[in-house]
Amino acid sequence: MAQGRSKTIPPGNEDRSPIALEQRDVSADQRMFSPSVARNSAPIVAVLKDVLPTHGVVLEIGSGTGEHVVCFAGTMPDLVWQPSDPDAAARTSTSSWIKFAGLKNVLAPRDIDVSSGQWDVEQAGNFDAVVSINMIHIAPWAASLGLFAGAGRLLRAGGILVLYGPFMRDGAHIALSNAAFDAALKQRNQSWGVRDIADLEQLGAAAGLNLRETIEMPANNMLLIFSSRSA
Ligand SMILES: C[S@@+](CC[C@H](N)C(=O)[O-])C[C@H]1O[C@@H](n2cnc3c(N)ncnc32)[C@H](O)[C@@H]1O
Repeated sequence: MAQGRSKTIPPGNEDRSPIALEQRDVSADQRMFSPSVARNSAPIVAVLKDVLPTHGVVLEIGSGTGEHVVCFAGTMPDLVWQPSDPDAAARTSTSSWIKFAGLKNVLAPRDIDVSSGQWDVEQAGNFDAVVSINMIHIAPWAASLGLFAGAGRLLRAGGILVLYGPFMRDGAHIALSNAAFDAALKQRNQSWGVRDIADLEQLGAAAGLNLRETIEMPANNMLLIFSSRSA
């Protein structure tokens, strides 16, 4: 356990458990720690290094603890990273992680709820990529609608939207553990749930985003890459 953590979480498969931010370990300087981030960062980085441009600006949606963005910024130093989260504690954690890591290529986290029609970064111009990890299943469907609409508005032509998490394929779960996770999510909040790739493709089509690639990831997760066709 890292120095300074003040709380512990119960053991379990956190990749498949909708743990709330308030239950996470927190250091004295308000950095939150996510066990699933510790597990999934390396495989996600390996794919992102392949699919992201070497230079440009990447917007992260639902940054959570901020550990991902700091890891990505450290391993992809020529990209500028813009984290965001509607949760104030998440933004505090992200700011503390940025300070702790001493990184110059991560901007201060923005308060973005993708369900709202206007994001806090519209004035920043176009992004080369939008990345959202483990967000759309732990949010109402309106968040998926908003995420695709916003990515369609803010990505440059040829820019990509990258989604990571569990997904359904043609109305079916790809693993029993994903089905159990989906049921647990819905028990917690009826509007949450594992999303179907076909439904996301429809949102993409309406927003000018084509599904370019689906990549299988550890623990029955997937990484989806949508490409902006807007000119
Ligand atoms: C399960 S956490 C994942 C956090 C982080 N991406 C990770 O993988 O550890 C989901 C995050 O999505 C954020 N979120 C929920 N609804 C959202 C919305 N409508 N717009 C943007 N972010 C949202 C939450 O505040 C939370 O930080």
